[in-house]
Amino acid sequence: MALRPRLAESGAKGEVIMRRKRLGVVTDGAFNAGLTVRLDPGVSTEDLRIGDFVVVEGEQNRYFSMISDIQLKVTDATFLADPPRDAPPFIAQAIAGTNTYATVQVKPMLMLEKTDEWAIPDQPTGVQTVRTIPMHFAELCQADPLDFATVFGKEGGLNFAVGVPLTMDIPICIKLDRWVERSNGIFGQTGTGKSMLARLILSGIIKTGAAVNLVFDMHNEYAFDKQTEDGGWVKGLRQLFGSKVLVYSLDEKMAARRNVDVTLKIGLNQIEAEDVMLLAEELDLRPTTAATAGLLSDVYKEDWLRELLKMSPEEVLAFCQASGAHPEATSALQRKLMAIKRRGYIVERAPFSLIDEMVAALDAGKHIILQFGRYSHALDYMLVANVVTRRIRRLYQEKVERYEETKDPGDAPRPLMITIEEAHKFLNPTAAKQTIFGQIARELRKYRVTLMVIDQRPSGIDPEVMSQLGTRVSGKLTEERDIEAVLTGVADRSTLRGALASLDTRQQVLLMGHAVPMPIVVRTRPFDEEFYRAMGLRERRSAVEDIAELFGEDAKG
Ligand SMILES: Nc1ncnc2c1ncn2[C@@H]1O[C@H](COP(=O)(O)OP(=O)(O)OP(=O)(O)O)[C@@H](O)[C@H]1O
Ligand SMILES: [Mg+2]
Repeated sequence: MALRPRLAESGAKGEVIMRRKRLGVVTDGAFNAGLTVRLDPGVSTEDLRIGDFVVVEGEQNRYFSMISDIQLKVTDATFLADPPRDAPPFIAQAIAGTNTYATVQVKPMLMLEKTDEWAIPDQPTGVQTVRTIPMHFAELCQADPLDFATVFGKEGGLNFAVGVPLTMDIPICIKLDRWVERSNGIFGQTGTGKSMLARLILSGIIKTGAAVNLVFDMHNEYAFDKQTEDGGWVKGLRQLFGSKVLVYSLDEKMAARRNVDVTLKIGLNQIEAEDVMLLAEELDLRPTTAATAGLLSDVYKEDWLRELLKMSPEEVLAFCQASGAHPEATSALQRKLMAIKRRGYIVERAPFSLIDEMVAALDAGKHIILQFGRYSHALDYMLVANVVTRRIRRLYQEKVERYEETKDPGDAPRPLMITIEEAHKFLNPTAAKQTIFGQIARELRKYRVTLMVIDQRPSGIDPEVMSQLGTRVSGKLTEERDIEAVLTGVADRSTLRGALASLDTRQQVLLMGHAVPMPIVVRTRPFDEEFYRAMGLRERRSAVEDIAELFGEDAKG
C-alpha cells in the first residue's frame, strides 16, 4: 500500500519534512458532539473514510481526531429542487466549493500541547485527553507518520504492530503489557480474521514475554500449520516458537500423529457440580440438577460423580431416602451424565498433578496450547476448559497470596493470559455467574490471570463481563445487538459505531481501549513469511533445534 501523495519539502538540515495535507477548516462544533469541518474544494469525500485518523491544528494544541461522518451540502436550495441531472462533470466541478460543498464530522480524541511539537515519538509525550476544542477555522489535516508515532508509539519492545491504518503504511502498535493487564476481547463475524489476529498477538506476547499463555484451542488451529481460506498455509505457534510452546491434547490419536507433549486425561473426581451446571444446555439437564448434585457432593465429596455414575437403581433409591434427594431427578441426572463418562479422555480418577504440571510449566515461562483433537463438541470444550482453569486459577490465587506475604519478587507469578474461543459459551449471562471464567473477568487482574475472549456474537456475552474488558478489537459486525454489545461502556459510541459499520469483511478491525491511546481502524498485519522474518522467527524442524535452544548452540554439535 502506497502513501498517499503529499507535499514534501527540504527541512533546515536537508532532511525531507512531510507537510501535512490540508483537508479543510473547522466551521462549527461542540465539545460533546465534535467538530464540523468544511472540506477544501479540491478534497474529495471519496478520499476520506469514516474512522480515519486526522489532525486538527488549533492555536495552542494539536487535536488527534477521528472522522465520524461525511456530509454533502448545497448553498443554493434550487440545486436540491432541480439538480443538474445530465450535466457533464465539469459543471459539477465548476460549482464545487461555491454552490456545493462537503463537510466532515470530526471527533477529537487526544490532544498535544504545541510546545511538545517535536516530541520524540518513543519518549513519553504530552499527549493527553481532550479538555477543550479549537477555535473557528482551525485546519483539519491528514495525519502524517510523526502524528501516528506520537500517538501510537514506535514499533519495538512491548509496542507490537498489529496492522496499518487503512490509508497509509505505518505500523499501528498496541502496548502488550497493557493488553495482558486486563481481560480483552476480539470480536467480529465469521471469517473476519479473529483467530489470525489472536495468532499475531499471541506471537507478540510469546516473543516479548509480556505474559505466559494458556490457549484453549477448540478447533486445533494454533499449534501447527493451518490452511487459510485463500488456500495458503500459515505456521502454528509451536512450529514458530519450538519448545517455548507446549502442546497438550485430549486426543491420543492426534498426539500420536503430531508433535504433542502431553495427552491430558480428566478424572471424574476433578469434575465439580459447577462444571456440570455449565453443561445444562448441552445435556438437557433439569433445574433440579444443582440441588441433586449438591446433596451428592455433601455425601461423597469429590467422588460424587463417580459414585453417582456407578449406582444401581436400588442404590439410587437408598441414597435418596437417606439424603432427601428426589429419586426421579437423581436417576435422570445419572442417565444424562453418563455422556460425560463415555468421553475418551475421561478416566475414573486422575491426579491433579497433570494440571499442576501445567502451572509449573507456565511458571517456567512456557506457553501451553490445549488441543481438543476429535473431541470438538461444545461439551468437551466447556467441561475441560472449566476444570483446568479452575485449578489453575486456584493455584494462582495461592501464589499471589504467598507473594503478598513474602513480598519477594521471586514469588511473584508471571501474568497469565487465557485464550478462549467461542467465549459466549462460558460468559453468557447465566454461565458468567457460575463459571470460573466469569469470575476471572470480573475480578480484573487481582490474581494476575486475564482472559482473551474471542467470539462472533458479543451480544451473547454478559454485559457486565463486556464492560470489564480492557481492550476490545472488533472486525465487521452486522447485527445491531452485537455492535451495541461491543461498544458497551465505551466513550464516543456514535463515532465508533460509524467506524465499525464501515469495516471490510476481512482483516480490518477497530481497536479500542486500554492497550491503545485512542480508538483506530487498522488493516490487520498479514500472518505470513514476512511476519515470521520481522519477528525473527523461523520454523523449527527438529527436536535437536529445540535442545540447542535450551542449552545453547554447543548442544547442536
Ligand atoms: N492477519 C491475517 N493474515 C493472513 N490472512 C488472514 C488474516 N486475517 C484474516 N485472514 C484470512 O481470512 C481467513 C479467516 O480468518 P480467521 O480464520 O482468523 O477468521 P475468524 O474470524 O477466526 O473466523 P471464525 O469466526 O469462523 O473462526 C483466513 O483463513 C485468512 O485467509
Ligand atoms: Mg476463528
